[in-house]
Amino acid sequence: MVLITLEGIDGSGKSTLIARLREGLADLKPVFTREPGATWVGEQVRRAVSEGIDPITEALLFTADHAAHLAKVVKPSLQSGLIVISDRYIDSRFAYQSVTLEGVIEDPWGWLRRLHDGWTIYPDLTFLLLLPVKTAMERLRTHPEREHFEDERVLESVQQNYLRLVRENPSRFILIDALMDQVELAAFVEGEIREFAGSSRSRHRS
Ligand code: TYD
Repeated sequence: MVLITLEGIDGSGKSTLIARLREGLADLKPVFTREPGATWVGEQVRRAVSEGIDPITEALLFTADHAAHLAKVVKPSLQSGLIVISDRYIDSRFAYQSVTLEGVIEDPWGWLRRLHDGWTIYPDLTFLLLLPVKTAMERLRTHPEREHFEDERVLESVQQNYLRLVRENPSRFILIDALMDQVELAAFVEGEIREFAGSSRSRHRS
């Protein structure tokens, strides 16, 4: 029924937020899902990322994971009238892969757009967690295994790309100050999801 996504750079606090939303929204029985990793394809993507692979293969694997995720989880759940909440989704590709593909192909943004054209489903609502990259890097210092994305310069560009997505689709995004108190932040997001899901339910009924 509604597709809601959560986005933000590594270290922006999505995992903590999702743990709270699972509890807070339990009565709505949403489907919590993620990219990469909702299907076995996603497991292969994680492997490719951790072992290191060329940027085009990596971008195609993330996109393959998106296709499998849509077919196996997102579409069936939306068709059953459920609320789907995805930890990362299409915007992650534009934010991250247009950095990793820079200098590899011409116009990564346009290439990614064409790659998704005609089959993807765009989210109804996206929460973007924003925080200074330096703070995110501090938070990531404790990660035992760093992915190649977890680099200050990469994350600066990723954050800029997220802001470009917001400029292109301002009505889809809600921007969140990720430095807010965690409990208040989760309560705010929960309230917005309840309101959005409620209003789209009544829209669908009428
Ligand atoms: P994940 O392990 O889920 O990290 P996080 O907890 O930060 O969400 O995601 C793995 C990494 O993959 C993360 O650094 C973002 C990156 N990524 C892309 O580069 N492109 C994509 O399309 C997606 C979905 C994730």
